[in-house]
Amino acid sequence: MFEDVTMAYRLLFVCLGNICRSPSAENIMRYLIEQAGWKGEITCDSAGTSDYHIGKPPDKRMQEAAEKRGIALVGSARQFVAEDFDRFDRILAMDLENYHNILALDRAGIYENKVYLMCDFCRNYTVKEVPDPYYGGLEGFDRVIDLLLDACEGLLADIRPHLD
Ligand code: 4NP
Repeated sequence: MFEDVTMAYRLLFVCLGNICRSPSAENIMRYLIEQAGWKGEITCDSAGTSDYHIGKPPDKRMQEAAEKRGIALVGSARQFVAEDFDRFDRILAMDLENYHNILALDRAGIYENKVYLMCDFCRNYTVKEVPDPYYGGLEGFDRVIDLLLDACEGLLADIRPHLD
């Protein structure tokens, strides 16, 4: 869900399908931003590198895992496009494949400094990637939420100095 707030710091979370990991990251981050009282100062959106699920809501299994933590997942899937490089301040890839697929669209090679791996902001977990839960069991969806809560808290702390 794109919020057009002028002058806000703009975050885009990206995975493969935009129905599991990146909408979770988007909605968890928005939840933490509201809790911190920074609504309007940071905006969140998400996208997928694929076109597999365009227009679909977040996966039911992912919604249920988020709901257990009191977080509702809203949004509908869209595909990442090259124009997103200019529309956002930071682009957060869920795994290395997403990271490389995003940068493959950076034809001029000028946006690498905007693209990060989400897990680089984890403070309690040491994994490099948010694992794709789509073809696995339900525990994989809980794991995604745990990792993203940690990464989003770290990301929020990292962004704070950029807000002033
Ligand atoms: P996501 O999960 O990238 O976290 O949204 C996936 C959703 C769908 C597929 C793969 C991963 N798929 O192959 O359809």
